[in-house]
Amino acid sequence: MRILVLSRNASLYSTSRIVLAGRARNHEVSVIDPLDFQIVVSRGRPSLTVRGLPIPKYDVVLPRIGASITNYGLAVVRQFDLMGIPVMNGAVAIARSRDKLRALQLLTRRNVDVPTTVCARSPAGVEAAIELVGGCPAIVKLQQGTQGIGTMIAETPQAVASLLETLWAMGQDIVLQEYIRESKGRDIRAIVIGGKVVAAMRRVAKPGEFRSNLHRGAKGNGMKKLPNAYRTAAVRATQVMGLEIAGVDMLEGKEGPKILEINSSPGLEGIERASGVDVATAIIGHAEAYAAKHRRTSKKDVELRLVNVIADERMPPRSARSESRSRVRRYAS
Ligand SMILES: Nc1ncnc2c1ncn2[C@@H]1O[C@H](COP(=O)(O)OP(=O)(O)O)[C@@H](O)[C@H]1O
Ligand SMILES: [Mg+2]
Repeated sequence: MRILVLSRNASLYSTSRIVLAGRARNHEVSVIDPLDFQIVVSRGRPSLTVRGLPIPKYDVVLPRIGASITNYGLAVVRQFDLMGIPVMNGAVAIARSRDKLRALQLLTRRNVDVPTTVCARSPAGVEAAIELVGGCPAIVKLQQGTQGIGTMIAETPQAVASLLETLWAMGQDIVLQEYIRESKGRDIRAIVIGGKVVAAMRRVAKPGEFRSNLHRGAKGNGMKKLPNAYRTAAVRATQVMGLEIAGVDMLEGKEGPKILEINSSPGLEGIERASGVDVATAIIGHAEAYAAKHRRTSKKDVELRLVNVIADERMPPRSARSESRSRVRRYAS
């Protein structure tokens, strides 16, 4: 198989692990920086070139789109999608998960539990919003933060108000969120590939820190057995997003899992080290199956997929729920 990994840097741990795992299974694997592509938009014949040269026909594309290049990187992924090349994960799914508010909106419609979250864009009614999320301390988050940057805790209503004012003045979109006290600086990261949990770890924040991101100095401990409720929540969350590969972050709430966010390009270093699972090979294994299943994607399939994506976000919560769920499964790409 000819596999393309979209990544800014071939020497990053996750990228190089995927490349090596692909080559070990006798695939031809290349890495191209999404910013090196030119996107050619032309009626009926979308294409991509790299520095003006045509690209070979890839069997499957694996985007590792970092936060800093979301828009251009997403446009490149979308172009592969439009060209009918199997992309794991697809552009719509990546965009959904990248925006925390959009992700939470979609999740709650499918009965997945999340911390109570309020979004606002003006100071009027901030007191009521704080009440809604259970008072202080409360969490303030940038809608597009990653690696713990952009997630803050505010101990008093005054702190919430001044944080919000500052962030709004800076043009940032934010959410206010219920602080899940009982999680005590811990969360669970589950890696879901092709609808199955393949690895999980509990991350424990360093002393004095409430964020359990490894980038913020947290420790990851492998979890051999993920409780069923957590397994189910993680799988359902990725289905709702339409992701084939995901890292799902969950807090351990009193009543069970509360989904925080779903990462479309989860880092492999921490989870492979903590769990001992070869996640890179699991990704390649699923890419093989996915490429085989979607090999003959016709123009019509591409169109149908786009139409279904729109319908899916519009679907009323109750009616046609099971129908929309199977749609997500079928056209998730
Ligand atoms: N509502 C919350 N209650 C308790 N802890 C939280 C809450 N939201 C986030 N955290 C902590 O902060 C970390 C980062 O938050 P997250 O929403 O995953 O943003 P990021 O994209 O920066 O990782 C989480 O892993 C968790 O440890
Ligand atoms: Mg996170």
